[in-house]
Amino acid sequence: MARKRIVAGNWKMNMTIEEGRNWLRSFSRHHDLAQLVEEVIIFPPFTALAALANDEQGNLLQWGGQNLHEAGAGAYTGEISGPMIRDCHAGWVLVGHSERRTLFQEQDDLISRKMRRAIDSDLQPILCVGETLEERESGQFMEVVARQVVRGLADFPQHALDRLVIAYEPVWAIGTGKTASPQDAQDMHQHIRETLSRLYTQAVASSIRILYGGSVKPENAASLFACPDIDGGLVGGASLDPDQFAALLGIR
Ligand code: 13P
Repeated sequence: MARKRIVAGNWKMNMTIEEGRNWLRSFSRHHDLAQLVEEVIIFPPFTALAALANDEQGNLLQWGGQNLHEAGAGAYTGEISGPMIRDCHAGWVLVGHSERRTLFQEQDDLISRKMRRAIDSDLQPILCVGETLEERESGQFMEVVARQVVRGLADFPQHALDRLVIAYEPVWAIGTGKTASPQDAQDMHQHIRETLSRLYTQAVASSIRILYGGSVKPENAASLFACPDIDGGLVGGASLDPDQFAALLGIR
């Protein structure tokens, strides 16, 4: 069965509620939101999540949190739980984004517990993986990324594999304007799919969507999205501009 393309926008620490509403108005001038061919998922900051996910036009898109705490509730000042994200009418969550790994010291064992918590909270997690420039230049990048996939999924329940999405985001391509070449990205996506087929089965591996992220823009998206193992994009900077983000939809 063909994998449905996902075009996701990670707004990171940008956008107030009002800016998000303006974004929605502009974005909806480009596309009939009730008729989108791709799955479009936006990851706004937590402060805007409930307002936008429950907006009249916003509720025609899908929404997610950029992170969640590994526990379901408790004394964790400043943290956000999976059930709280669900409570905003959001169905998705990013786990293990490279900025969480590098700036907030998140490691594979914590990421694995967060993946589990996402499923237990009835959220669809996107497990983010990717090598640093040093790891690419040392030639270790295939092993590094396979290890992140295997360890991140260490406690992932088999019954939830149909809810799993993976995003390959080479750290050196995030926010730098440098994109992996379509061939390099395809090679890594194929490698991730082979890793999944060793972990599970070939049928499961070929059903899991693997997104590319790292300086995706309308100008480079067509050649990336044309690769057989690339099932869409996780877009940072270009997703903040509703016109640019809109231009990423409908690319064939
Ligand atoms: P950029 O598209 O700004 O490079 O960010 C990618 C990213 O980190 C998406 O999660």
